Amino acid sequence: MANSTVPSDTSSDTQSTYRRLIGYTFNYWQVFSLAIVGMVLVALSQPGFAALMQPMLDGSFVERDPQTIKWIPLALVGVFLVRAFSGFLSEYCMNWVGRQVIMELRDAMFTRLMQLPNAYYDSNSTGNTISKFTYDVEQVAQAATSAITIIIRDVIMVVSLIAWMFYLSPMLAAVFVIIGPFIALMVGLVSKRFRKVSQRIQQSMGKVTHVVEEAIQAQRVVKIFGGQNYETTQFHQSNERNRQQNLKLVATTAVSTPIIQIVVSFALAGIVYLATMEGAPQSISVGTFMSFMASMLMLFAPVKRLTNVNAILQKGIAAADSIFGLLDTDIETDTGQYETDRVQGKLQFNDVSFKYKATDNEVLKSITLDIQPGQTIAFVGRSGSGKSTLVNLLPRLYDSYQGEILLDGKDIREYSLTNLRDQIAYVGQEIVLFNDTIAHNIAYGRLHDVDEAKIIAAAKSAYAHEFIAAKPDGYETIVGEKGVTLSGGQRQRVAIARALLKNAPVLIMDEATSALDTESERYIQAALVELIKDRTTLVIAHRLSTIENADLIVVMDAGRIVETGTHEQLITRDGAYAALHRMQFSEPNDDSN
Ligand SMILES: Nc1ncnc2c1ncn2[C@@H]1O[C@H](COP(=O)(O)OP(=O)(O)OP(=O)(O)O)[C@@H](O)[C@H]1O
Ligand SMILES: [Mg+2]
Repeated sequence: MANSTVPSDTSSDTQSTYRRLIGYTFNYWQVFSLAIVGMVLVALSQPGFAALMQPMLDGSFVERDPQTIKWIPLALVGVFLVRAFSGFLSEYCMNWVGRQVIMELRDAMFTRLMQLPNAYYDSNSTGNTISKFTYDVEQVAQAATSAITIIIRDVIMVVSLIAWMFYLSPMLAAVFVIIGPFIALMVGLVSKRFRKVSQRIQQSMGKVTHVVEEAIQAQRVVKIFGGQNYETTQFHQSNERNRQQNLKLVATTAVSTPIIQIVVSFALAGIVYLATMEGAPQSISVGTFMSFMASMLMLFAPVKRLTNVNAILQKGIAAADSIFGLLDTDIETDTGQYETDRVQGKLQFNDVSFKYKATDNEVLKSITLDIQPGQTIAFVGRSGSGKSTLVNLLPRLYDSYQGEILLDGKDIREYSLTNLRDQIAYVGQEIVLFNDTIAHNIAYGRLHDVDEAKIIAAAKSAYAHEFIAAKPDGYETIVGEKGVTLSGGQRQRVAIARALLKNAPVLIMDEATSALDTESERYIQAALVELIKDRTTLVIAHRLSTIENADLIVVMDAGRIVETGTHEQLITRDGAYAALHRMQFSEPNDDSN
């Protein structure tokens, strides 16, 4: 499993990641400011409460001052009212911002996903990418909301409580403040580990998603080939790894928090001793001491949260790195400006060579071909000879080829991507159907809004109307994921109808190699005749009749063109094609698998 976005460890990277993350939050600065107002009020209500303790004890209880006895209860309720209201304000506004950031990130990621080149999909597992959308984004939102809340609110809380403590008794407060650096040191040590473990958790989440996804997609193969144990083991391993890494994170938190509390308890002991020992330098009233103690006890919660905030923050940053990795992946090159309504369909391949990123050797070697508008070119050749690769270059699914490909005499890189692809209809080797209605599968993409009449006409030409009409819901039938509720031949005909509806001047038809029953075969054959009429057609053909009727047959082997000519010419020549033909088509029932 490739992971192209392992975040680096340098702190300047962390900062820029963090700044970028904060940038998303600041897009909503109005709501964000409201949240901050809320946080400040919540924070100040703590020392406010502590401050009430002093007059409450000294005035109401010890001196029994009638004025104080009246206003203290009111003030108490007041403090908690402020606290309740501002608590709601900060929590709601912060989460509003967080949800907004999640949505924005997911939208940006999906937009990017739609623009990524084929090569990205070759080298990144689906599970990994999905996990970025589900798990990583949530982690980032946590960092962007709860972490910010904790940092702002709790820092103010801690600072104002300590300030109040200093006001009450500088000497006692000084003792407390001495332990501060120890806490800071611990937090620093812990945070490094958090980040590492968080990254591993993310990767293991990606793996978990990946295995589940593959097992679902491949469930038939898994069943029939008895892969359950293998898949279960695979899953268990990644699941187990996820558990281990999560536990490591918990262990780090669970160890660090009590240690910090122990450090704090020493300070507590020292203070009580200093305040109560014989000949204390300052005489301290009960109210002052209680107010001091209350402040100190109230410090525990925010300090604890502040030490934990690292977990959230580091998780968030690791996740943000992974998300920004996706957002920063280069998109398809689309620098061409040329646009045209409809090309004639003249095609030239000049000395085209190509290798996949993942492979060392060239999959296409010096391909040169001249195709006239309206011609049908059949590509034949052994499996793996490069036929699909060659036709995939035309819609620029891969861009890094050598040589040039001209459409109507113009380099395909000079066309804008959309315009180029508008000229091309495509029926792939694997039929792709969406879990939607048949009508929407035929009228897909930019054809989404066409009239129903046109859809039906396309289906009729593709010999698909009959079986569609026989379905209880007709064109509104949902085909299921990848079209599982249709037969193989039906799926192909829906795909052909889709290509027919597009009515593009260039057609790429990568015939499925799977054999169909004779009836489907006949239907598809007839549909194909309809499809290739009046357009330049590149067909990777496994059907004899498609090949025999082609204007030109191109025989490929190991990435090279080894022969070209019409069926008769090549048979007479008795070369590679003739041999292939004898092998594949000599027996009527021999399929081309
Ligand atoms: N995405 C990819 N990344 C790396 N290598 C690839 C990729 N797709 C195909 N290949 C390799 O490129 C070569 C040509 O593959 P291609 O799919 O073009 O063959 P083909 O002629 O269409 O075969 P078939 O008739 O079986 O469909 C093969 O050796 C294959 O292993
Ligand atoms: Mg192929």
